[in-house]
Amino acid sequence: MSFLKRISVVGLGFVGLSTAVYLATQGYNVIASSKQQRKVKLIKSGIAPFFEPELEPMLKTVLKNKKLRAVVGRKTAVLNTDATFITVGTPSLSDGSTDLTFVQEVSKEIGEALKLKQSYHLIVVKSTVPPGTTENVVKPILEKHSRKEAGEDFGLAMSPEFLREGSSMYDVANPDRVVIGEFDKRSGDILEELNRKLYKNKVPILRMSLPSAELAKYASNAFLATKISFINQIANICERISGVDVVEIAEAMGLDPRIGPGFLKAGAGWGGSCFPKDAKALVAISRKLGYVSKLIEDVISINFMQARHMVELAEEELGNLEGKKIAILGLSFKPNTDDIREAASLRIIELLLSEGAKVTAFDPVAIGRVKKVLGDRISYANNVYECLENADCCMLVTEWDEFKKLQPSDFIKWMHKPLLIDGRRIYDPMTFSKRLKLRAIGLHRLSEENK
Ligand code: UDX
Repeated sequence: MSFLKRISVVGLGFVGLSTAVYLATQGYNVIASSKQQRKVKLIKSGIAPFFEPELEPMLKTVLKNKKLRAVVGRKTAVLNTDATFITVGTPSLSDGSTDLTFVQEVSKEIGEALKLKQSYHLIVVKSTVPPGTTENVVKPILEKHSRKEAGEDFGLAMSPEFLREGSSMYDVANPDRVVIGEFDKRSGDILEELNRKLYKNKVPILRMSLPSAELAKYASNAFLATKISFINQIANICERISGVDVVEIAEAMGLDPRIGPGFLKAGAGWGGSCFPKDAKALVAISRKLGYVSKLIEDVISINFMQARHMVELAEEELGNLEGKKIAILGLSFKPNTDDIREAASLRIIELLLSEGAKVTAFDPVAIGRVKKVLGDRISYANNVYECLENADCCMLVTEWDEFKKLQPSDFIKWMHKPLLIDGRRIYDPMTFSKRLKLRAIGLHRLSEENK
């Protein structure tokens, strides 16, 4: 079955655009579709609508080779391709459950286009959706508007995406596994073949039911978030024992293959567009099923407590924070992205402001986005040094490379009182604590002892 040559991708966020560009680099003719005129205009001119390393040059190449075309709307996308990947957003509603509005809208539009199509077409849901969505929400809408039958006239599958922001082009080309949920065998066969070709038979492909594939994504993200909240709890224990460092503990744990080294970096907490949303959604999904997933609920609240803990470390050193100037280094939820969704920085800043502190922040790329959220409630610096100037405390919240290069002398020179709180463990505690007051996640206070 080798008919899949032309693929449309509907919804052009991180997952959609990265997938579209990757497929185009592999020789597929791709139509990338968004409802947002502005986004399509930018993509057509070779500009990525968000900061993502390596994406833009690849986008430019596939546009030049005419392998990728960006369009507004769905009809052209469906009518001129053999398969459509749905990659629209699935944001959280206020109760943590998943807002399926975009998935519903796009299913209707794809259905309407399918009605006009003679040949077979495969629809693949890649958006993160609660178990049952593809079968009970997407399928009926597609069937209603196409007047066709899933499994007969068109194919239907669900294949979650595990790529990370900041390394999406690498991840999309090098997945650890491909998960395929299938409504029918033919759909699964086609998607398996596509993935076998893309990944040259080197990546495990798991075929399962639609709801299993849907839940696999939530379970994976919730487990990774659990690992981080777990190590953050261990970090809080470490801080209370002289001579203990969570970095060493994580290394010792991680070498056990049953545990693994990934996602054991203690810090200011996890954020982003996936972990917080998916953990909350999993709680809502299980509650709806009459089950309380206590562990995941605690994993979420431990993450909030970690932001509070960053502020407590400052208070332990400075007392009342009223009127104190706090410099925040790093605003994005992790390095190499300008995404600030659910970033630890925002939680910390809110807490600092509620304590009456004056906050100045710097980030290499995310300031524009933070300004839209916090406006003039905080000050923004043009560079690290401006941020540190006259500060009573500096909190390192996002581990950008340029912050890793800072030396104790930089903090001493610019700050009013050089107190550094290392929220990502990027500074060597021995070197730094000899020169300035250092508090670090997962490390007993060193400053006094070390001087
Ligand atoms: C995550 C998943 O990794 C990816 O598989 C899924 O498809 C989407 O969600 P992403 O949100 O891009 O990807 O970021 P990730 O690199 O996983 O980091 C998430 C958060 O966890 C960040 O805030 C990061 O700072 C934090 N983190 C990560 C830690 O605090 N410690 C760690 O050891 C790892």
